[in-house]
Amino acid sequence: MKKEIQKERFQSEPHQPASIGQARAPVGVEVSNVFKKYGPQTVLTDISLKVEPGEIFTIMGPSGSGKSVLLRQIAGLEQPTSGTIRINGHDPHDPDTRDRFAIALVFQAGALFNSLSVYDNLALYPLEHRIGTHAQIRDRVMRALKILSLENAVNKSPAELSGGMKKRVAIARALVMEPQLLLYDEPTSELDPVMSATISEIIATLKEQYQVTSIVVSHDRELALTISSRVAILMRGELLSLTTPDGLQHTDNPEIADFMHPKIDLENPRYKTMGA
Ligand SMILES: Nc1ncnc2c1ncn2[C@@H]1O[C@H](COP(=O)(O)OP(=O)(O)O)[C@@H](O)[C@H]1O
Ligand SMILES: [Mg+2]
Repeated sequence: MKKEIQKERFQSEPHQPASIGQARAPVGVEVSNVFKKYGPQTVLTDISLKVEPGEIFTIMGPSGSGKSVLLRQIAGLEQPTSGTIRINGHDPHDPDTRDRFAIALVFQAGALFNSLSVYDNLALYPLEHRIGTHAQIRDRVMRALKILSLENAVNKSPAELSGGMKKRVAIARALVMEPQLLLYDEPTSELDPVMSATISEIIATLKEQYQVTSIVVSHDRELALTISSRVAILMRGELLSLTTPDGLQHTDNPEIADFMHPKIDLENPRYKTMGA
């Protein structure tokens, strides 16, 4: 996969100076004292963190810990109950300033339309928002598909694709927006380890090649430890730790160690009845 991406870059450079992601500088993200409540339930409690331009920042934590909610606040899809999110100093939720940078979110379930071809899934948003002429949009779509080695899937329905290919289509759709900030929600969930490693490699290569700032929400330990520059651990809506992959491996917090290296206790009465 890496080889193909590099080849694509080499071939396209002389012809397309404004190719995907290259024309824009990566952005920094600052989350300050963010709380998020839904009715009486507090889902995020006093989250503060800073993501540097061009880094791969991973947010890990168990199911229900608030990872997707935090990503939605960063994407500007929702507004925190209190606290601030700033992307290069601007509020991503403010309609007056949010057009100053390009954010793309790769949704957890892919959120692809099975009634549309892969091509139309990628072209839909740019066409609706008149991001360019039909020819320019076609160019962007085909480039994004090529970068992810999906040219052969262009006329297929997402329903015909494997899980790994669907994830790649979802990433390609985000790339069409030429993002400066790419947000991934569980990009490797439901994939086998080999396909997960491929997706991790794609995330790392896109970051390297286009210097796009990347925030990855995941509970994939391999991904977090191999491609991230830093990892935040979220539990019960609180930021428990913010460290490097190496720091995470040597944590002295027992709850985090348990999360990173879960052990099944066969003496646990819960398992005693199984197979009895
Ligand atoms: N739109 C919403 N309205 C009410 N509760 C929500 C909403 N979105 C998420 N939650 C709740 O917030 C908590 C964290 O959810 P989420 O961020 O999706 O967890 P995860 O870490 O698995 O991504 C869960 O208890 C979930 O039920
Ligand atoms: Mg989630």
